[in-house]
Amino acid sequence: MFVRILPPEVRSRIAAGEVIESPADVVKELLENSLDAKATRIEVEISKGGKRFISVKDNGTGIHPEDIDKVFLEGATSKIETEKDLLSVETYGFRGEALHSIASVSRLRIRSRYFQEMEGWSVYVEAGRLVSKEKVGMPVGTEVQVADLFFNLPARRKFLKREDTERNRVTEVVKEYALARPDVSFSLFSNGREVLSLPKSSFKDRFTYLTGLRPEEILWERGEIRVRAFIVRNVSRGRIYAFVNGRPVGSRSLKEFLRKVLGYKTLAAVFLDLPPFMADFNVHPKKREVKFLKERAVLGAIREALGLKPTLSPEDALAQEVRRYSPEPEIVGQLMDTFIVARIGDYLYFFDQHLLAERISYERTGEEERSCRSSVKAGRKLSRGEMEGLVREWIRLENPHVCPHGRPIYYRVHLKEIYEKVGRTF
Ligand SMILES: Nc1ncnc2c1ncn2[C@@H]1O[C@H](COP(=O)(O)OP(=O)(O)OP(=O)(O)O)[C@@H](O)[C@H]1O
Ligand SMILES: [Mg+2]
Repeated sequence: MFVRILPPEVRSRIAAGEVIESPADVVKELLENSLDAKATRIEVEISKGGKRFISVKDNGTGIHPEDIDKVFLEGATSKIETEKDLLSVETYGFRGEALHSIASVSRLRIRSRYFQEMEGWSVYVEAGRLVSKEKVGMPVGTEVQVADLFFNLPARRKFLKREDTERNRVTEVVKEYALARPDVSFSLFSNGREVLSLPKSSFKDRFTYLTGLRPEEILWERGEIRVRAFIVRNVSRGRIYAFVNGRPVGSRSLKEFLRKVLGYKTLAAVFLDLPPFMADFNVHPKKREVKFLKERAVLGAIREALGLKPTLSPEDALAQEVRRYSPEPEIVGQLMDTFIVARIGDYLYFFDQHLLAERISYERTGEEERSCRSSVKAGRKLSRGEMEGLVREWIRLENPHVCPHGRPIYYRVHLKEIYEKVGRTF
């Protein structure tokens, strides 16, 4: 009826990878589906942290009777049809992947009554295979029940954490969506006990309800970019919630940027809205990361919205921001054939090339003697590519600070110091 299987050329354009690794991932996907179905009330229930049972019940439009035995098939979606639609996605879902991923690793029941029908339908699916389909009496909306997650994948089940850890993750997910959508009422029950009960409210009241603190509110609009932020300063443990087009994002670089702009002792929810083609979520299998078109302008807009005056011309300031917050190392050059000089974040680093190479090889092989002998020696000219390679590996080291014999690998200077020594503000 509405659900179609995406053709292979569209599916190949969708970020591949694990969608479901924990009960919280299941809850996230089911909440998104309920919100896409325009629900105004969503009830979540879990038992044993979601490892035994998860149910998400909504009062949305429901699933058409002709679609109910298709929705859990691979690539089945009613939300997009062609590759071009990927540029204008306005729904949380677009991959036709979530129910399929859940169905294949659990015992799944979907009960749904489409809003134009007098009765509902229920399907029961085990490890991806349809077991039964029957009529049921129920109100308009959908309830998805997921039992025994990973029952057929013991290796994956083993990776689930303790009940309270999984429950906390689920609670966090519900809170994130609740922050993003105060126009929807949410409740969460765990082992029969109420954990959250959130009536519809304004953004500010929802924030206050969830955090216990009254925030200052900022609303900033410029053209098609809008920033709305709720901020409480000087809290003992800061925390940033970031949302792009209503989607909670885990994006480290965006959160780190916000933390630097807002300060580490700030509790804030920052909502950035921009045209869908400017924010690409199809870069991560769980849509937790986002890639911006015109990133400099976007980050600059956030900075301005949050009340920070650029010290340079706005364009230069934007350029500087991006350079500063980009995690990519910038190789400055080699010094005396002994040091690699590179800028990473706000620091200028002087790496001892021999000690650095030694540490890398030591972490690879675990052998001190050999790593010392086989490493890049001091006094050798390095190509830019070699330097980049070494510095990139350094970022991933387990112990990036000292060589296997305990000598420091680098010396670093904060850029602020350099700026201030010549009378400039950083
Ligand atoms: N709660 C719901 N209410 C109404 N329809 C639903 C609900 N949940 C799922 N559906 C229907 O089932 C389809 C498949 O859902 P599924 O989550 O697997 O894919 P999707 O949301 O289209 O994409 P994604 O994999 O990115 O989430 C949806 O496109 C929608 O038509
Ligand atoms: Mg979905």
